[in-house]
Amino acid sequence: MSDNLTQTETQKENVARALDEIANVGKDFLNGNSEAREKLVASARELVTAAETPVESLLWHIWALPTRTVAARAAVDLKIFETAVHDGGKAKTDSELAAPTGASPALVKRIARTCVSMGMLDEQGPGLYAPNDLTRLLARPEYAAGITFCFDITQMPFAQLPTYLRDNKFENPQNGVDGPFQYAHKHTGHAFGWLMAHPEVFQAFHSYVHTLRRHRPSWVDMYPVQEHLVQGLKSGDASALVDVGGGLGEALQDFHAAVPQFTGKLVLQELPEVIAAAQAKGVDKDSRIELQVTDFFKPQSLKGARAYFMRSVLHDWPDEQCRIILGHLKDAMEPGYSRILISDCVLADQHAAWQHLSLDMYMMAQTSAQERTETEWRELITSCGLKVAGIYNKGEGNEGLIEVVLE
Ligand SMILES: C[S@@+](CC[C@H](N)C(=O)[O-])C[C@H]1O[C@@H](n2cnc3c(N)ncnc32)[C@H](O)[C@@H]1O
Repeated sequence: MSDNLTQTETQKENVARALDEIANVGKDFLNGNSEAREKLVASARELVTAAETPVESLLWHIWALPTRTVAARAAVDLKIFETAVHDGGKAKTDSELAAPTGASPALVKRIARTCVSMGMLDEQGPGLYAPNDLTRLLARPEYAAGITFCFDITQMPFAQLPTYLRDNKFENPQNGVDGPFQYAHKHTGHAFGWLMAHPEVFQAFHSYVHTLRRHRPSWVDMYPVQEHLVQGLKSGDASALVDVGGGLGEALQDFHAAVPQFTGKLVLQELPEVIAAAQAKGVDKDSRIELQVTDFFKPQSLKGARAYFMRSVLHDWPDEQCRIILGHLKDAMEPGYSRILISDCVLADQHAAWQHLSLDMYMMAQTSAQERTETEWRELITSCGLKVAGIYNKGEGNEGLIEVVLE
């Protein structure tokens, strides 16, 4: 093991390897290969890990990471990012950053300088702050909503998770109505019930998830939509693409814009509160989109649809509940024609992407559920008497698309 003063041979070898990798992928990136960018970021992270001593790594994890999350959340309430971009982004003192909220300039300085250490803000001199690209992003409510939602709903269950696991003899959380979320929030019922009672948090969820998705590959970019959905499309209910648990209808709106040649019905199925929110948002002004109140734990009313689409739905539920949801869809499918399309993370069996692993811990804390590896997806789907027809993916750490048909 190395200390802060001595470099070990292994450490030098690891650093040399990481530097070579950075030089190689860095060249590809500078030559305009856009796929090299993700590799460059991964290699740069490997270099940091290789160059750090184990003690530095430990301090990074126990000091830097948790405190930065808190500082970022406080910065949103203090409107630090919004204020920093005012007046064309001219540099501001801590007193100027504090003025809109009337907060203590001394407090704002402590939060702002921590934001600087995260690259969320630039520091042009002692106590003088200016926005950068990330500040400008976070000054927009739909991006800042990501910080608010992830912190407000999950930090309490995370803080209590070790105690919860100890109290429950280290069982893998599998009960969506009696798990880490209920333990920490002193809530009875599923996290979705809590969200319905906190509409501002639910809005923050839909806002940030929808916004961030625009920066990631869509399922229509990885799945052969033309061959598998458009060709051979029948009429009436059989023409429907049903978005089961489809939130505020963004996936259907995006699909409509991306695949205008799909002439079938677009049906949004959701809980009553979400359908009301979708109506209030004017989703049904698009005459192609039909809104239906649904409980996916009850039999599916729209039979023989072209496709039943579910995005980020099954990762909210343990296997037992997923089998009920899939079972109802299976009963509604027309053999040789209907399919279920699952848009969710498909984890690698080894060295899973950090995004997938982070979401897995979020799912554990929020809904006693999980992200699944390809093997786990196949086992779950086969156990319902259904068959995986194909798994499509694009890039690292994104949602994949699993096509499911009747056996
Ligand atoms: C993680 S969100 C995903 C929303 C949307 N599919 C998307 O990709 O943004 C899960 C959705 O499932 C819905 N949901 C939860 N329980 C449901 C139920 N029993 N029946 C129908 N929808 C439900 C929630 O209201 C929520 O909008």
